[in-house]
Amino acid sequence: MSKGNYYITTPIYYPSAKLHIGHTYCTVATDAMARYKRLQGYNVCFLTGTDEHGQKIEDKAKEAGCTPQEYVDNIVLGEGGVLDLWKLMNISNDRFIRTTDDYHVAAIQKIFKKMYENGDIYKGKYTGKYCKPCESFWTESQLVDGKCPDCGREVQDAEEEAYFFRLSKYADRVQDLLENTDFLEPRSRVHEMVNNFIKPGLEDLCVSRTSFSWGVPVDFDEGHVVYVWIDALFNYMTALGFCNDAKEGLEDFWPADVHFVGKEIVRFHAIIWPAMLMSLGLPLPKKVYGHGWLLLDGGKMSKSKGNVVDPYILAQRFGVDALRFFLLRSFPFGSDGNFSNELLISTINTDLANDLGNLVSRTVAMAQKYFGERLPAQQQVNIEMDKELVEMVCTLRDKYEEQMEKYAFQNALAEVFKVISRANKYIDENAPWVLAKDESNHPRLAKVLYNLLETVRICAGLLSPFMPATAEEIAKRLGGVRMDWDSLEDFGVLPVQVATVAGDALFPRIDMEKELAALEELSKPKSDIEIEPYATEHVDFDTFCKSDFRAVKVKDCQPVKKSDKLLQFTLDDGTGTDRQILSGIAKFYKPEELIGKTLVAITNLPPRKMMGKESCGMLISAVHTEKGEEKLHLLMVDDAIPAGAKLC
Ligand code: MSP
Repeated sequence: MSKGNYYITTPIYYPSAKLHIGHTYCTVATDAMARYKRLQGYNVCFLTGTDEHGQKIEDKAKEAGCTPQEYVDNIVLGEGGVLDLWKLMNISNDRFIRTTDDYHVAAIQKIFKKMYENGDIYKGKYTGKYCKPCESFWTESQLVDGKCPDCGREVQDAEEEAYFFRLSKYADRVQDLLENTDFLEPRSRVHEMVNNFIKPGLEDLCVSRTSFSWGVPVDFDEGHVVYVWIDALFNYMTALGFCNDAKEGLEDFWPADVHFVGKEIVRFHAIIWPAMLMSLGLPLPKKVYGHGWLLLDGGKMSKSKGNVVDPYILAQRFGVDALRFFLLRSFPFGSDGNFSNELLISTINTDLANDLGNLVSRTVAMAQKYFGERLPAQQQVNIEMDKELVEMVCTLRDKYEEQMEKYAFQNALAEVFKVISRANKYIDENAPWVLAKDESNHPRLAKVLYNLLETVRICAGLLSPFMPATAEEIAKRLGGVRMDWDSLEDFGVLPVQVATVAGDALFPRIDMEKELAALEELSKPKSDIEIEPYATEHVDFDTFCKSDFRAVKVKDCQPVKKSDKLLQFTLDDGTGTDRQILSGIAKFYKPEELIGKTLVAITNLPPRKMMGKESCGMLISAVHTEKGEEKLHLLMVDDAIPAGAKLC
């Protein structure tokens, strides 16, 4: 029988770059919590997803020379992308939302309109700085030395039409929610929100943009797109069918039991999110938990720091369960923690190889060695010296539960490992190898081994939310035993004649020095020059032949207004009609350098609009990285080759 419904979410990730171990942290924590709740008997809905709109994505796509949708599709669905990473990390999410999903987009339009109609969204003026030559709006903080960040020229005060949400109207209610309930945890984050954001005065929030188009369009006012945070926050409800028929579950799962979020986005979840829900008269989530950051050398983590933070490489070298375990065992969830390879390796060696791994292999190996496949039926009853261990095991589930309910994963694991250490000590105290020598001691020996196997069972069951594959493997070694929640409080669930199955070491010890050296080697760039990895997938010959490569001559080349990346080419392609191609290479060439050159273009790509201009094809260039810097050379061919010559 289900204990009830439980809804838990992670933040939805920006697919603006590949994810690093810091991103993995929150999803692994959410997964552990979701699995724990399932273990307890709840009907869990665990949601994660991707937050795919906004200027940042639009810019990145332009840089990459593709559409924003192509760009996000590649990072979300492509090889080594977000979905692959969650699969690798054994994430058990029940739902996955993409903010570009049609149902979500349509729901956001409805939600925006509702708030407009109830008067909480109104049209106003957004004041900022304007660069006339670039025709661009900037906020004060975007300026570089007070000047336009694109062209470096003077800017002037200006206004732009925009929609605003009456956040100020909800300031008192939100402050009351934060100060007088347990809505936001840990408590330290409450003071930060109230003192830094609410007390200085909450201003109305600008919730539409006209300076870019990659977002949910405001359907009653062309040119405006919905502010990405409004679009993003409502994912928690649209994924359950709020304002759409494509999904369901709102009645069962809303309000959410907890949103896990990183500390830098607590402000959005603890101030803006409840205020918007209040505006719509909707129930508020029961809790927002703002976890700390994983830091690298005390600083922010980013994928550019290389392989040390690449979850794929770490999982491949250390194993998925070891990595999951390390993340939640080593740092208190509510505070920042310093990630290091030394800490990762020593945690694996101490807790997993020495303590847990040893306990499992020694116990199973002794059971097999002294009694074969099954323990004998004849076993002594527990004696005084068994009491401490048995009592610790019997009370473990409650202690663990108390910590898990506070999201104190580190402490919950510490409780389990206290018992594991105690069990290892119990082996030494009882010296089964001595008992084995004398047949008359075999009933005692059987009892000692039974107690150990039972301890292993309960510990493995409680570790299962953190290390699901390991727990499963341990269950197999204990003859496929029960590890359900009720059984984890009961000492004595294992059948007396438990059958054991031998296996390899669960966590082989890692040679710290060697491994650190190997990781260091992996982090070094192979040489100053790095080339893109080769494609592994074959393209069939006929498909390749469909690509129409031609020699083209540059008649004119101009920078594109408002873009620091694009050049606009007018090309002679031998047809007698000029061809226009836009190419994101302004950082590598001055337009005048290219006039008169003979280049190579692929000409039968579908035409595409970039910055409002049509681009009919793509210029071919050679790209590589040198000392970490991106380099690009347009492919130039002999000027004797006439315009329009086909390359094959
Ligand atoms: N798209 C928003 C969230 C919208 S939720 C309605 C966003 N995305 S993000 O990809 O930038 O970050 C996702 C989560 O990863 C955030 O909670 C963030 O705190 C977390 N982390 C990113 N780097 C991190 C660490 N180094 N350590 C721990 N968590 C970190 O924000």
